[in-house]
Amino acid sequence: MDTRPIGVFDSGLGGLTALRELARIMPEEDLVYFGDTGRVPYGSRSREVIIKYAQQDMSFLRTFRPKAVVIACGTVSTTALDVLREENPIPVFGVVESAASAAAHVTKNGRVGLIGTQASIRSGAYERALSSLRPDVDVTARACPLLVPLVENGRFRPGDSVAETVAAEYLAPVKAAGVDTLILGCTHYPLMKSIIGEYMGPDVALVDVGEQCARWVKRQLELDGLRNERPGAGRHRYFVSDSTEDFASLASIFLREDVTGEVEQVDITAY
Ligand code: DGL
Repeated sequence: MDTRPIGVFDSGLGGLTALRELARIMPEEDLVYFGDTGRVPYGSRSREVIIKYAQQDMSFLRTFRPKAVVIACGTVSTTALDVLREENPIPVFGVVESAASAAAHVTKNGRVGLIGTQASIRSGAYERALSSLRPDVDVTARACPLLVPLVENGRFRPGDSVAETVAAEYLAPVKAAGVDTLILGCTHYPLMKSIIGEYMGPDVALVDVGEQCARWVKRQLELDGLRNERPGAGRHRYFVSDSTEDFASLASIFLREDVTGEVEQVDITAY
C-alpha cells in the first residue's frame, strides 16, 4: 500500500482524458495534473525542445514526491520516455506500450492505422512497439498537426464543418489502406472520437491511448504493491503554465464533469 500521489502531465489539456480514466478506475488515488498550457502544442517542435520541456514537467511533478508519473501525452511518450525513465528512479508510464498492445489484440486483418502529432509519427515509436508484439501488422501512419489546436479551441463536435473537413483530409489515406483498427495516438483525439468514428465507419475499432494507459498503470501498481487502498475519494490537484482563468470551463469538456480540486498557475521555466 502506498498513499503517495500519481503525477500526470501533458503538453496541454488532452492528458485530462487519461486522468479521467485514472480517476474512474482508481478513485481512491491522489492525482496531481500538470498541463503545459503556456507552451502547447509540443508536437510540432524538435526532439531537443520536447525533451527539455518534458524534463521540466517531470521536475515540477517530482516536487510532490509521486509514487509514479504518467506521461499522458503521445508526443512526450514517443519522444522522451527513455530519457525520463533513465533520469527518474520511479515508475514512469507512457502511452505507447499499452496502445500498441491493445491494437495488436484488436486487429483481425493486421492493418492498423495510426494518427498522432508530427513528433509522434516521426519517432516511429508506435510502429516499433507494434512490430515487437506482432511482426505481421502493417501500419499506416499519418501526422495530423491541426487536430490539437482545433481541440484546444473547442472545435471537435460533430457538425463542425472545419473539424470534419480537416479530419477527413488526414484520415482519407488511412481509410483507403483498409485498416480495421485505428490508434488515436494523441491524448487530445478522444474528443474527436465522434467525427473520427463517423468518417472511418463502424467496422474500425478506435484505440484511445489515454484509456489504455490508465488500465495498464492500474495493473502495474497492483503488481508492484503500490496501490492506495485507503477508503474514500482521492484528492485531485491541477497545475497549468498559462492563466487558470479559462481552465475550469475547458477542462470540464475533457473530463466530462466539473473540475473539483484546486487549480494553480506555475512558472514551469523555473524547473
Ligand atoms: N496530448 C498531446 C499528445 O498526446 C498533444 C501534443 C501536442 O502538444 O502537440 O501528443
